[in-house]
Amino acid sequence: MDLHILDHRLRVLSISKKGLVNFTHPLIKLIFLRNRTRCKFFSLTETPENYTVVLDEEGFKELQPSEHLNVESSVWLPLNVVSNGNASSSSQAVGVTKIAKSVIAPLAQQHVSVFMLSTYQTDFILVREKDLSVVIGTLEEEFNIYREVAGESVPVLCQDVSNGLQKNGKEATQPTVHPVLIPQNQFCVMSLDPDTLPSIATTLIDVLFYSNGPEEDAQSSPSRIKFFSFSLIDGYISLVMDTEAQRQFPADLLFTSSSGELWRMVRIGGQPLGFDECGIVAQISQPLADSDISAYYISTFSFDHALVPEEDIVSVTEMLQHQRKEPAAS
Ligand code: ARG
Repeated sequence: MDLHILDHRLRVLSISKKGLVNFTHPLIKLIFLRNRTRCKFFSLTETPENYTVVLDEEGFKELQPSEHLNVESSVWLPLNVVSNGNASSSSQAVGVTKIAKSVIAPLAQQHVSVFMLSTYQTDFILVREKDLSVVIGTLEEEFNIYREVAGESVPVLCQDVSNGLQKNGKEATQPTVHPVLIPQNQFCVMSLDPDTLPSIATTLIDVLFYSNGPEEDAQSSPSRIKFFSFSLIDGYISLVMDTEAQRQFPADLLFTSSSGELWRMVRIGGQPLGFDECGIVAQISQPLADSDISAYYISTFSFDHALVPEEDIVSVTEMLQHQRKEPAAS
């Protein structure tokens, strides 16, 4: 299997709910006017707490510093696994489940903090730029690693960081088990031809920027959660929304995988998770991989979110409860 270190230097930030009005202009440019910016990696996710933005340095330049902007101080690099077909895998599962054992678990073991961004097309594993040599040292056994430089994939030569790596199982630090929340909404993960983006522009603007009216608040029941994610990465669009938001879009433009499945969410974290703790994604994705349950995984500024197939939510809930009673001794 191949692992690509993509040619984007990313920043992760949040915009407060009430500060959003100060950023509608640059955000509209980043979402709809692709030819006016050199931003190639953009993702915007609304959660009840805030808006999370992940974008490259070109995009970051569009946002003026403000008290409403909370910027994580590191530069993050996106990793992407490309299976080249010959890796025999019996698993039908998609998403983070596929990379749980090969990428997520080894990085957690080496205390590398990740930030996950699953999209319709693929799963990006963001790691801090400063952790790159540990990342390469950890994953080079399992993967052919390439670094993308100006559109070309350059093989990364073996590094000698082995003495910096912690050998397996030496440390038995119990990972913190974070509380989870399982809202009632059903979600879909969709895509859209970028050329048809103008046709859904008014709906998208409405949903993204005007969905917090008082009438919406009154309607939203406590068992539902506000979660809407839009990303435009290297020309590919991905949307994650609940069925309520989906109904507002014209039915013929957005597409989802042929099976058209619906997903339920597990939100991880009681207090904001921060960016330094590692092993949170691993803790959730490992048991999903053991049971071969597909999952998308989206980290936001405050919390993590796993999306699992609707029909698996009961077993996933049980699995997580079990984990809480007797944390895995891995
Ligand atoms: N750093 C965590 C891990 O390595 C995942 C991200 C959690 N933090 C966040 N702000 N969402 O598992």
